[in-house]
Amino acid sequence: MLPVPQFIQIHQARAEHIRQELLQGLQAECPSIAPKYLYDELGSKLFEAITCIPEYYPTRTEAAIFKEHSQAMAQQVPPGAVLIDLGAGNCEKAARLFNVFHPSRYVAVDISVEFLKGALECLQRQFPSLHMAGVGLDFSEQLQLPAELKLPADLPRVMFYPGSSIGNFTPQAALAFLKQVHHACGHGAGSGLVIGVDLVKSKAVLEAAYDDALGVTAAFNRNMLLHFNRLAGTNFKLADWKHIGLYNTELNRIEMHLEAVRHVVVQWDGGQRRFAEGERMHTENSYKWTLAGFEQLLAQAGFAKSTAYTDPLQQFAVFWAQA
Ligand code: AVI
Repeated sequence: MLPVPQFIQIHQARAEHIRQELLQGLQAECPSIAPKYLYDELGSKLFEAITCIPEYYPTRTEAAIFKEHSQAMAQQVPPGAVLIDLGAGNCEKAARLFNVFHPSRYVAVDISVEFLKGALECLQRQFPSLHMAGVGLDFSEQLQLPAELKLPADLPRVMFYPGSSIGNFTPQAALAFLKQVHHACGHGAGSGLVIGVDLVKSKAVLEAAYDDALGVTAAFNRNMLLHFNRLAGTNFKLADWKHIGLYNTELNRIEMHLEAVRHVVVQWDGGQRRFAEGERMHTENSYKWTLAGFEQLLAQAGFAKSTAYTDPLQQFAVFWAQA
């Protein structure tokens, strides 16, 4: 009989807590919306579309690095490990590595277990001998794998964090997160992390990737307002806001903002916030790293040694970091 994946949901934030968090960000002196609110159902589809647009090089470059170097990585990644996929989504990227890394177990982690059900059930049919589990967990807040997974303590753990999502953390938060990842690797010999990192490059290439000619990134950013309205009962109107994607060369980060195109009053039950024309809300940072800078960050987080695999133009890197 076909095995059934195990599914575990760790608590999700309550609607009132989410509303408070959003309204607090909106009323701050420098208003902001946390980037996790980019990903409602439509936002997730728009992000998938971003990964296909010509200017957004990270996804295809990372895929090319895996294609070119996954056999070399497999020399370092121990077979029979537990492959723990952080932010698994449709599980596609990890699934491409099953026949290369030969894990004995696969744990897909994403914010909601509902996102994982269809993908895991389908993968289980293709890989019937691989033990699979889906965990719904907001690991950006705390990465603690549930005990119900009953992961054998002596099996090596390979944490998998592709896509350069580490860039959406500030360097300080990235260090704190990587320390948690290092801790979650456990004590199995050979454990480690496979992580995708976007590298520093020219402002023109970066700004085109985050403000594309088709306007897909603009739609992704502005869609956040529709999500906000549903969660917080506000009355944002799309026509009042434009997308800004700019590279901050001092901080090595892309910043996404929403800018008011006229004077705007945003209202909700019990309050309002005025925006002058040209005033911005900060919606996302996407930090870019140098190879040396990220290697140092991994060492600071406790990883013993790391190897970087890159593309010929050194646009992107995949690191294997041994715990
Ligand atoms: C998910 N994350 C790595 C993307 C990035 O490149 O920072 C999100 C994104 N924002 C705009 N385009 C893509």
